Order: sequence, then C-alpha cells, then structure tokens
Amino acid sequence: MSGPLRWGLAGCGWIARDHVAPAMARVQAVLDPDRARRAAIPGRPAVSTDDLDAFLAAGLDAVYVATPNDQHRPLVEACAAAGLPVLCEKPMATSLADAEAMVAACREHGVLYATAHNQRFHPAHEALAVLVARGELGTVSQARIHYACTAPAWWDAADWHWDPARAGGGAVFDLAPHGLDLIGVLLGAELLETTSLLQRADPVEEGGVVVGRWTGDVLGIVQVSYACPETLPRRTLELVGTAGMARALDTMGQDPGGTLEVIDAADGRARPVPFDAGGDPFARELAAFERAVRGEQPWPWPVERDLAVMAALEDAVRPRGVPA
Ligand SMILES: NC(=O)c1ccc[n+]([C@@H]2O[C@H](COP(=O)([O-])OP(=O)(O)OC[C@H]3O[C@@H](n4cnc5c(N)ncnc54)[C@H](O)[C@@H]3O)[C@@H](O)[C@H]2O)c1
Repeated sequence: MSGPLRWGLAGCGWIARDHVAPAMARVQAVLDPDRARRAAIPGRPAVSTDDLDAFLAAGLDAVYVATPNDQHRPLVEACAAAGLPVLCEKPMATSLADAEAMVAACREHGVLYATAHNQRFHPAHEALAVLVARGELGTVSQARIHYACTAPAWWDAADWHWDPARAGGGAVFDLAPHGLDLIGVLLGAELLETTSLLQRADPVEEGGVVVGRWTGDVLGIVQVSYACPETLPRRTLELVGTAGMARALDTMGQDPGGTLEVIDAADGRARPVPFDAGGDPFARELAAFERAVRGEQPWPWPVERDLAVMAALEDAVRPRGVPA
C-alpha cells in the first residue's frame, strides 16, 4: 500500500460531508442511494455509486461507514467479507446483538474494526488523559458530562433519527456514546454498570441521564438532550479528584478548540491547560486508523470498550427488567 489510504465512504450525509471527508487525504469511492449527497462529498472520488458491489470493488484500502444506524451492521459485514478494514460511526448499531455480530464478522475475516469515537482524539481530551495519568488530579472519583443540542431543523418528521428501528433510540443512543466512552478513556477505566432515566420517550427519547460506574469505583453522570438551546453552554465535562478538578467547555462535539482548565485543590485557583486548539479530532482519528491499517501502530482501543457502551445504550432504552 503506497500513498494515502484510498478511502471508501458509505453514507454521504452531514457528518461525512462536513467533517470526515474534508479530513481524508483521498476519497476513492462514495456509496449512497442519494446522488445529490454523493455529489456533495469533497475530494473528487473516482467512483460514485448506489451499488454496494461496485463500491466494494472500487480499489479501496479502508471504509468509513456513516449511514443511519440500522445500516451499520450490513455494511460492516459486507466490508469484512470483502477483507476491508472498517471505521464505523457511533452508535455501533441499533442493538448489542448487531454490534456483536459486526465484531464477530470482522474477527472471522481478520479485518480491523473500529468505532469512530472521534472525541477520543480531541487534543484537549488527550491532554486531560495525560494529566489524569500523571496523578495531577489525585484520585478521581466523580465525572460529569452534559452533552446536548437542539435537534437540527433538517431532521423532518420522516428523518431516520425519529425512527427507533433505524436509529435504535433517540438522544441517549445518539449522544451518550460519546460521554460514556470518553469518561473511560480519560480515566483509563472500564465501564462496569449503568442505570438510566429517559425523557419524553415517544417515538424516541428526547433526553436522558445515564449514570455509570467505572473501575476504580468512579461514578459518572452523562446527561444528553435534543432540547437544549444552542446559545447556552451545552458541552461541559468535569472530573473531580482529591488533588483538583478539571473542567472543559466545548471540547466535546465535532469542532477543534474549546477550553480546558484545572482547579487546584490546594488553593482553589484555576489555571488553563494548553492544548493544540487547531487539532481536528476527525483528522487525528483517521490518522490513527491509517497507522493501524498500515501495521505501524495498533488501534489503541479494544472493541470490548465499544461493546460495553452499546450494552449501556441498549439497557437505557430497552431495559430488560426483572424476570418473572
Ligand atoms: N461522530 C460524530 O460526532 C457524529 C455526528 C453525527 C452523526 N454521527 C453518526 O454518523 C452516522 C450518520 O449520521 P448523519 O448525521 O451524517 O446522518 P445523515 O442522515 O445526514 O446521513 C446519512 C446518509 O446515509 C445514506 N444512506 C442510507 N442508507 C444507506 C446505505 N445502505 N448505504 C449507503 N448510504 C446510505 C443516506 O442517504 C444519507 O445520505 C450515524 O450513525 C450517526 O450516529 C456521528
């Protein structure tokens, strides 16, 4: 494999068009039933098609999947069967069973699977993870995330986000994967258990709170909503430890930047933590995936972490309850 990775892009909607394709050095092929959406992808792909077989035969090195959630499983399985490494958007699928099947298919065919938890790669989060690992916050036992938005005006009544069969769930399924993943990533901890409350769950939840326990007996709260005015602070992250508290604003989301500060427990003073404010989380994620595809550096995150997040989402929106 020489030159930049030849990416195939399956699903040419908002996240692919505005954030991921612009960060790709080479988009070789695009797949989408909607011709106009394919045409809107930057990078002059050599192949533009609505046919999966033509897409898979387009001379690809790797595939990025950014379709409605119910299409993740069939596309990941098709990539696996074609021997193509695949980076798939969050949530992994509409159910834990589908997510497990995707992982099994990739294992069977020996291809790399990774979930596109792009916020792992935000430079502020990487700086914070280093701070935590160095013990600068002491023993961290509390984590809080508020991650919310106003549902975009272009999601009309027929949009897949409102259909539980296509999306899996609403705001919790869509937004909570970021926070549930990020707390574990920042603390170097595993998600052990969760419990949740949902709001206005018809046809899918408008909001919710997921409370989790991570290794080290850390308790974390992830609150998400589709009903938060975007003029308000709505992307906040706090870690509280015995030696200090870290507070980040607007580092979660799609864009670079935001702020990160640490309040020292000794004197209660806040100091800003420097990080690369221009570092694009999507470009960094793609670069890490490319290194893994080339065998230069393993993908840093075991897929079991992604499955633990999927299990938490499923528990939140489809509680199994107590057997009779
Ligand atoms: N990481 C993030 O920050 C982030 C942000 C937004 C969305 N997402 C995820 O990305 C995915 C896409 O979200 P979006 O907001 O871009 O949605 P979108 O509705 O804007 O785009 C989805 C696209 O997929 C196409 N599509 C549908 N079925 C297909 C198929 N079988 N094959 C190929 N294309 C198909 C649709 O025509 C559409 O163009 C979702 O899984 C979502 O959860 C991630």
